[in-house]
Amino acid sequence: MRSPGSPSAKPLLRGAGLVAGPVEHLADAHPDIIRWLTESGVPLLLVGAATWDPQWSSANPLMVEAPVLTVGNRLALWTEQLAAAGPEATAGLDAAALAGHLALGPAQVRRAVEAAAVSARLRDGVITPEDLRRGVRAQNAAGLERLARRIEPEVDWEDLVVNRTVHRALTDLAARARHRDRVLADWRMRRGGGRGRGVSALFAGDSGTGKTLAAEVIAADLGLDLYTVNLATVVDKYIGETEKNLERIFAEAGGVNAVLFFDEADAIFGKRSDVKDAHDRYANIESAYLLQRLETFDGLAVLATNLRANIDDAFTRRLDAIIDFPEPTAELRRALWVRCLAPPLPLADDIDLDFLAEAFGMAGGNIRSASTTAAYLAAADGTQVTMKLIVMAVEQEYRKLGRLVMEREFGRFYAAL
Ligand SMILES: Nc1ncnc2c1ncn2[C@@H]1O[C@H](COP(=O)(O)OP(=O)(O)OP(=O)(O)O)[C@@H](O)[C@H]1O
Ligand SMILES: [Mg+2]
Repeated sequence: MRSPGSPSAKPLLRGAGLVAGPVEHLADAHPDIIRWLTESGVPLLLVGAATWDPQWSSANPLMVEAPVLTVGNRLALWTEQLAAAGPEATAGLDAAALAGHLALGPAQVRRAVEAAAVSARLRDGVITPEDLRRGVRAQNAAGLERLARRIEPEVDWEDLVVNRTVHRALTDLAARARHRDRVLADWRMRRGGGRGRGVSALFAGDSGTGKTLAAEVIAADLGLDLYTVNLATVVDKYIGETEKNLERIFAEAGGVNAVLFFDEADAIFGKRSDVKDAHDRYANIESAYLLQRLETFDGLAVLATNLRANIDDAFTRRLDAIIDFPEPTAELRRALWVRCLAPPLPLADDIDLDFLAEAFGMAGGNIRSASTTAAYLAAADGTQVTMKLIVMAVEQEYRKLGRLVMEREFGRFYAAL
């Protein structure tokens, strides 16, 4: 029984079938298309992301779920594509370490390897891990860049100065993100309550303690870009708008392999117990929505806050990791100064790292900015960076922070200020 206006495909397609999709787009394009196709009598295979809607047609299709690729499937794909690129070009590339954790389909894997081969041809044709990472990143959909700031990580674990506890927690988190498919999907350790395969963490600590930097280091470790979203700018005072803004971000994030970093998470996480007015209540709905949406994001999402105390434990319980970034100790501050005052910065002989580390209790961000100020002072004077310039820069940093400049702290340099 064919409907009058339907295209009569049958006479032309003898001994053949028809593959059409994505089914959800077909249905949008014309309400009757799917009915026509199912009534045409031709063997029909519809593909798509949506589940079958009985309103499309009265046919009863056989539904076959195409599962996400297992880690094993994906590794086989990478091995196959790398082999196609040639043994000389891909010698020494460890597909498992580089790409086992990335959610890419067959076509994307092929394109990533092709892109890597093209950039390798600029040199000797040998594909490096960096070529491959760039090829992978090039497969990311572009939509998220309109909503979040993209950072291509240029740092590694060496750049991050943290105590052993924090370091360990961060490497554990990276490992969790790397192996989540193996553990949650292949080994069926999926958590209950419809939770997805995302990994979520909270970084809590004062400004300048290295939270953003740590996220960048983890992204680099995973070979991913970091996308940062400032939650304070997502929150809208109109009811329902915050969720819409978040939905837009997550919809775009679905198409990228990335670490998602939500800065100023306290803008959304009020204390649930302190519901004082209607606005607080909506803030709770917003944070519940954010958490629920985080779980469906198939990747690593990090929330950052300066105010751990502000975050309700009902929420923190649902996160995979909570990492506190303390103020650095004198020993760590010394390591921070060493990293900030490094060649090619021209340094005078009088730099006293022990004094700088002991005397000034500041976070890494302040040490970085004092060093930068000292470098500008030296550039303006046409001199090297001297101890005096650094101490002057620290004084400026103290004033910025609203801290008193005391002789007790500045010691023998106090008189020079
Ligand atoms: N633990 C650290 N190790 C190495 N460098 C650090 C560390 N903490 C801070 N820095 C330096 O200070 C800069 C600023 O740090 P970062 O942006 O990561 O701080 P933050 O914790 O995200 O601060 P905020 O809460 O203000 O966003 C870094 O780019 C880095 O140069
Ligand atoms: Mg930050």
